[in-house]
Amino acid sequence: MQEFSFSTRVYFGEGALERLRQVEDKRVLIVTDRFMNQLGVPQRVSSFLTRCQVSVFDGVVPDPPIEVVTAGVEAFRACGAQAVVAVGGGSTIDAAKAIRAVAKQVLDVDTDKMECFAVPTTSGTGSEVTDYAVITDREKGLKYPLNSQALRPMVAILDPELTVSAPASVTADAGMDVLTHALEAYVSTGYNDFSDAMCEKAVSLVFRFLPLAVADGNDLLAREKMHNASCMAGLAFNSAGLGLNHGMAHAIGGKLHIAHGRINAILLPKILAFNADLTTVHKGEYCVAARKYQRMAKVLDLPAPNVRLGVTNLIHEVEKLNRKIGIPATLKAQGVDLAKVKELKGELVSAALADATTATNPRPVDAAQAERLLAQIME
Ligand SMILES: NC(=O)c1ccc[n+]([C@@H]2O[C@H](COP(=O)([O-])OP(=O)(O)OC[C@H]3O[C@@H](n4cnc5c(N)ncnc54)[C@H](O)[C@@H]3O)[C@@H](O)[C@H]2O)c1
Ligand SMILES: [Fe+2]
Repeated sequence: MQEFSFSTRVYFGEGALERLRQVEDKRVLIVTDRFMNQLGVPQRVSSFLTRCQVSVFDGVVPDPPIEVVTAGVEAFRACGAQAVVAVGGGSTIDAAKAIRAVAKQVLDVDTDKMECFAVPTTSGTGSEVTDYAVITDREKGLKYPLNSQALRPMVAILDPELTVSAPASVTADAGMDVLTHALEAYVSTGYNDFSDAMCEKAVSLVFRFLPLAVADGNDLLAREKMHNASCMAGLAFNSAGLGLNHGMAHAIGGKLHIAHGRINAILLPKILAFNADLTTVHKGEYCVAARKYQRMAKVLDLPAPNVRLGVTNLIHEVEKLNRKIGIPATLKAQGVDLAKVKELKGELVSAALADATTATNPRPVDAAQAERLLAQIME
């Protein structure tokens, strides 16, 4: 039995923030980061919460560590929060999800019935509709994807205007996270008709609108389409799961501090080739992942008269997109210290293999193969 759930109510399009006007007579905790606070974003959100008492916790940092969650729980306690509104990128939404979960445990409040809103300001993680929250253990340099239905936000507000201020590099990285979610969920061991539909639409939207959003951050149509794509890819992987790309991205990103979408993007062409496994033919057929990549190439109107050409053209298209939006092809071009990567090689590989997202990769992977993939993205 599989599940595909639409339980988060999604409000989208320009003016979607208006939904917050329905929140009345509550003590609301807005969870955000300092930068968003300086941009005046929580203030803008508060202007819709006119009948509420609003407090702001702006302590989130990218790839939030456990300490941020602890500080957030204290802010939750101090204001006696009755509703939580997370406003920011995936880091902020993940932190807010964890704050709510920990508050339930340590403050003995029934946060399950509490209204919780996710208002993304990047189009990337899809965290506004998923059961995941990625929390970092800074000491160990490990990223832990927590997974529980209790983490899923009740309401997602996709207002494209909130993403306009995101710089081109944040837009590009987050957009490639969307593409990675959709291409991983499409071939994961848990794929299904519902997730496939979301993946095909999300991938089409990314190829069409991500270059436009990166080139002109004020292009509201491109922003809106990327926001929708991000949410659809989130719905897809929440049902189908992810794969080795995310497993390796969590391991490398946690240790080497590379933005999540950026490391996903660098890995993606290599992981596509690995999963397609074009050197293996079983009973005259390529593997399911290769055949599905061919189908995705057709969805994108790429030449795909056979599996080999479909896979090759899909990979080229991903590489072309990376180049167009300024994402380097290797860790070296990203400015990473390769000596450090070599030194950490063993740890990176074991963290990638142990990561929960790797479990649903379509092709089983061992340490030697993961090490080869790591070598391929180095230089
Ligand atoms: N929960 C999930 O399902 C899931 C899925 C994938 C990734 N993640 C996690 O999410 C995190 C990445 O999230 P992200 O890619 O959204 O980036 P982010 O939340 O880490 O934000 C990156 C930077 O962009 C800034 N920023 C965000 N929105 C902005 C805006 N509108 N204008 C200007 N600056 C803005 C932030 O202040 C921050 O400095 C990682 O920790 C990753 O592991 C979670
Ligand atoms: Fe991701």
